[in-house]
Amino acid sequence: MEDLKGRTAFITGGARGIGLGIGRAFARAGVKLAIADIEPDSLVAAKSELVNLTVVETFKLDVRDREAYASVADETEARLGPVSILCNNAGVGAATRLTYEFWDWMLGINLNGVINGIQTFLPRMLERGGGGHIVNTASGAGLVAGGSGVMYDTSKFAVVGLSEALRLELEPRRIGVSVLCPGPVRTNIVGNSRITQPAARNAEESKTWEAITEQVTAQLARGVTPDKVGEMVLTAVKENRLYIHTDRVMEKYIKARTKALLDALPPSN
Ligand SMILES: NC(=O)c1ccc[n+]([C@@H]2O[C@H](COP(=O)([O-])OP(=O)(O)OC[C@H]3O[C@@H](n4cnc5c(N)ncnc54)[C@H](O)[C@@H]3O)[C@@H](O)[C@H]2O)c1
Repeated sequence: MEDLKGRTAFITGGARGIGLGIGRAFARAGVKLAIADIEPDSLVAAKSELVNLTVVETFKLDVRDREAYASVADETEARLGPVSILCNNAGVGAATRLTYEFWDWMLGINLNGVINGIQTFLPRMLERGGGGHIVNTASGAGLVAGGSGVMYDTSKFAVVGLSEALRLELEPRRIGVSVLCPGPVRTNIVGNSRITQPAARNAEESKTWEAITEQVTAQLARGVTPDKVGEMVLTAVKENRLYIHTDRVMEKYIKARTKALLDALPPSN
């Protein structure tokens, strides 16, 4: 998709962090924006900034809510025209404990949120036949497990697999698929995840989570900026690239995992 000017992009989790970085880059390229997020104040702030660059509409949406998603999609297309770029970016990352409540929360947003975006917009794109592009935000943690927690890794591996499979299916229909696999990016994801995450069981757990939030946020502060990631996403959409890495942090881990996979193959006859 070389010329993005005049197209409409729908970005979930677009009011802050990486989603906002993507919005800024798209806006500078002349793309009209629909920004969906669960956090209303950030939506107001994002709109007042982005309106200086492009036509923008904002929507309060929980990506887990399929009915609301469909009405927001209708509203978006009525106001901004057909959506041909979809960025399934909303996500959460936080300290978790192995309970159904936490599985449902994290997979509900990080995986089902992506599925809901695809189920909402893909049939419309296919029906119109004008091509398009889908960007799913996974993580480096979707390529190699370790360090980010079982639930986060599970959700992000699923998003990588989904994206690879979807790309193959959509290639003949002129819809590209990219999967964004960031390393550390300077955002407040862990703090922001508190809006919806299950409550701590007691004061001690709450204190432990606060310490983890502080530690992870400090690590992410040394990462790349969301604006830089936004530019990388813009380039990947233009060039229809599958994988979008934001740094080389995962290099040695990807090599080690690939080697382990290959070493585990049975000997050839
Ligand atoms: N920051 C990093 O280092 C990093 C690394 C790898 C992957 N990621 C992924 O990037 C994506 C964006 O994260 P970020 O770092 O920009 O965090 P962020 O918290 O700055 O942005 C995420 C946005 O999603 C919104 N959101 C959360 N739950 C939602 C829901 N149910 N419905 C709609 N919106 C919701 C939040 O309000 C927030 O504005 C996530 O999928 C995350 O897993 C981030």
